[in-house]
Amino acid sequence: MKKYLLVVLTVSFMMLSFGSPAQAEEVGFWRWAFSFKRYKEVAKVENKVYLEECGSCHFAYQPGLLPEESWRKLLDAKALADHFGENAELDDSTRQQLLNELAGSSADKSRYKRSKKIMSSLGDDPAPVRITKVPYFVDKHDDIGDEYVKNNSKVKSLSYCDKCHQKAKDAVFDDDTVYIPGKGYWTW
Ligand code: HEC
Ligand code: HEC
Repeated sequence: MKKYLLVVLTVSFMMLSFGSPAQAEEVGFWRWAFSFKRYKEVAKVENKVYLEECGSCHFAYQPGLLPEESWRKLLDAKALADHFGENAELDDSTRQQLLNELAGSSADKSRYKRSKKIMSSLGDDPAPVRITKVPYFVDKHDDIGDEYVKNNSKVKSLSYCDKCHQKAKDAVFDDDTVYIPGKGYWTW
């Protein structure tokens, strides 16, 4: 009986480990099973080149925060030369590499809960170039007064996610992990 159980367990383990590649790419079984909280959020970004190139001026936004089409617009060569008033140009091979990375784990392909909510909230503009323009995002932040953001020199704008979301780098945006610099924990 015990032997039979062992075989069943081994076989199921193998089946789960070699599951469909599309699933494994974004959230593997063990990660899904043991870190339920992150599965609720957006997929973490691990690509070092991305973290360096796109995380020097602001927080390196997780690909699952925008649909593929948004990342295509943002990573266009001309667009990068005038990126919100800044020059964020990349050599072509790096640009292509990052685009593949972003497109491959964009919100429209994700199984993570927040990515799905982001996608279903998109209305008139199906591919915004700002996360801060996504209706789901706007809805979550619309009762935060200017004194916490614009008029708070320690934050500047809502684009700097990690200023307030203390676990943003771990892809955790839960409201109980929010600490607004110079103001305190978001408890109300
Ligand atoms: C030279 C500095 C710089 C670099 C490098 C840079 N960005 Fe930006 N990015 C900015 C600025 C400035 C803004 C606008 C911030 C604001 O409105 O306060 C911005 C905004 C954004 C936004 C919109 C954020 C929002 O408001 O929702 C996205 C998305 C974005 N960048 C992605 C990227 C990606 C992807 C890369 C790497 C290819 C990158 N950025 C590299 C300076 C930079
Ligand atoms: C000024 C501080 C601040 C900045 C900057 C900020 N947020 Fe938030 N965010 C908050 C607060 C406060 C809440 C909770 C609002 C509430 O519950 O009423 C929140 C809520 C959220 C939620 C929903 C959390 C939940 O538990 O439902 C998400 C997702 C989120 N933010 C993502 C982001 C992302 C992505 C960025 C950057 C593009 C960002 N935030 C920038 C303060 C901030």
